[in-house]
Amino acid sequence: MSAGLDIEVRRAVPDEWQAVRAARLRALADAPEAFGASLADEERLDEPGWRRRVTETPWVLARAAGVPVGVVAAVPEDLHPGQQRLIAMWVDPGHRGGPVAGLLVEVLCDWARTASATGVSLWVTQDNARARGLYERLGFVATGEREPMVGAPDVTVERMQRPL
Ligand SMILES: CC(C)(COP(=O)(O)OP(=O)(O)OC[C@H]1O[C@@H](n2cnc3c(N)ncnc32)[C@H](O)[C@@H]1OP(=O)(O)O)[C@@H](O)C(=O)NCCC(=O)NCCS
Repeated sequence: MSAGLDIEVRRAVPDEWQAVRAARLRALADAPEAFGASLADEERLDEPGWRRRVTETPWVLARAAGVPVGVVAAVPEDLHPGQQRLIAMWVDPGHRGGPVAGLLVEVLCDWARTASATGVSLWVTQDNARARGLYERLGFVATGEREPMVGAPDVTVERMQRPL
């Protein structure tokens, strides 16, 4: 999917693992409070590890003029079989408020439909008002299910979902 002349959003292929890694490490450095993973752990993942990750899991990358400016991925939602869980959502601060975030989610949802998912879930921290605003605009609804955040058990995340 593309918007405007130079924003391209699509699932990365395994040979693009370096671009995915670059975007993911920037995300973890930029917004560590938003994610359950740590920059140090993911910096240690080697090339075979990244290739495996990008092969086994859909990583959707946004590029502006060829430069990675956003990323999102999905894994099966274990708590709700049939759904996919949207994870790792991040947009470069210089591209927030534009089309990138919406395009990432729509391309991921298109992929989930092709994978026969019945819905897309995500878990967001209570105080991430910007992310919640985005997800609500895109049709996600808060379910009231809350859990401790993986990697930060003193932080609570709430599940939102969008049927497909
Ligand atoms: C979350 C993220 C991907 C959203 O992308 P974005 O480009 O900033 O999103 P948008 O600007 O398109 O949408 C944000 C919405 O929240 C609203 N918003 C912004 N700040 C807000 C605030 N403090 N309180 C409430 N709503 C807010 C915006 O007005 C907008 O809604 P609108 O389009 O209806 O006006 C991006 O901000 C990001 O990468 N953040 C850091 C990582 C992160 O938090 N990831 C999510 C993990 S669940």
